[in-house]
Amino acid sequence: MCIRDRDCAGLNAVISSVVKAASQKNWEVYGIHNGTDGITEKPHSYEILTVHNFSDSPWPRLSGSYLGSINKGVRLESVDEMSRKFAIGVKELGLDALIVIGGDGSMNIVSNYCRGSMVKMIGIPKTIDNDTPITEFSVGFQSAVEVCTNAIDSLVWTARSHNRAIIMEVMGRDAGHLAMHSALAGQADVCLVPEIPYRIDGVINRLKEIKASGRNYAVIVVSEGIKTEDGSHLSDRKNMVGEAVYGGIGQYLCDQISSRYKEFQTRVTTLGHIQRSGVPVAFDRLLATVFGAKAVELIDQDEDNKMVVWKNGKVAVSYTHLTL
Ligand code: F6P
Repeated sequence: MCIRDRDCAGLNAVISSVVKAASQKNWEVYGIHNGTDGITEKPHSYEILTVHNFSDSPWPRLSGSYLGSINKGVRLESVDEMSRKFAIGVKELGLDALIVIGGDGSMNIVSNYCRGSMVKMIGIPKTIDNDTPITEFSVGFQSAVEVCTNAIDSLVWTARSHNRAIIMEVMGRDAGHLAMHSALAGQADVCLVPEIPYRIDGVINRLKEIKASGRNYAVIVVSEGIKTEDGSHLSDRKNMVGEAVYGGIGQYLCDQISSRYKEFQTRVTTLGHIQRSGVPVAFDRLLATVFGAKAVELIDQDEDNKMVVWKNGKVAVSYTHLTL
């Protein structure tokens, strides 16, 4: 079992669930350290996990990743080279099946590695962005919504004290789920998401309405992935694996709004990586438990290249994607 890509709350509950289900079948579970690096690098880095690691331990209740994680192919080697090392590692470790806890990009990558090494792969979706196709929810999303909603609740009071419109920038990449769910739960006044174009004047009109109604404060939730008003991304910064790096759109909006409308002071709060941490909420732990057990069941049924998903209020099974 390995965790690919960024962490989120609920990962350790998934690990614990897999270990419990697998140990009932007397299987040996290798917890691979640092994503697939523990397989591809020498010496291999892993530990054998048993129920004793988790039964009398706080780990299932904590965020972070017991096994560590990596962000995609940070090693910057070609897919062919990584696949070659992966096949060797899988053989040396004697793995029969691999459970990958990751987003859709990671599952794509690892399912391609697995094809070359003949190891069976089952995916468990996790990401605060909730942008993995097919599943309605991925592990970590609801905990992140909780962090954002609590932040709105806190910002309301300071906004009220100072006659301010506070812009809260949340993560989510190109998906607005995190912004939308927390804005609705926290009853924010405005919510801007990447999927829907917006006008600054539209936001200002809403602020004017609020002012006219006699309220002296507002909270605006913006997703990090929204573009500027003219439809371009704020910057073309990329990380070391070529992904767009988001962040800063809240300040852009703040500057735009405060230059055109002065009735509210405008401030920005960028929540940042705190959204990936905090106590995993009950629904994420429920998903973790059910997904972990289902993944083990699928391996037992000799399934390959499948992903567990949450659909219509229950666990279901889908194919992972195979395009790179
Ligand atoms: O995919 C999860 C996520 O938290 C995104 O919402 C965010 O854009 C990105 O990861 C931040 O990545 P990093 O941890 O590399 O700064």
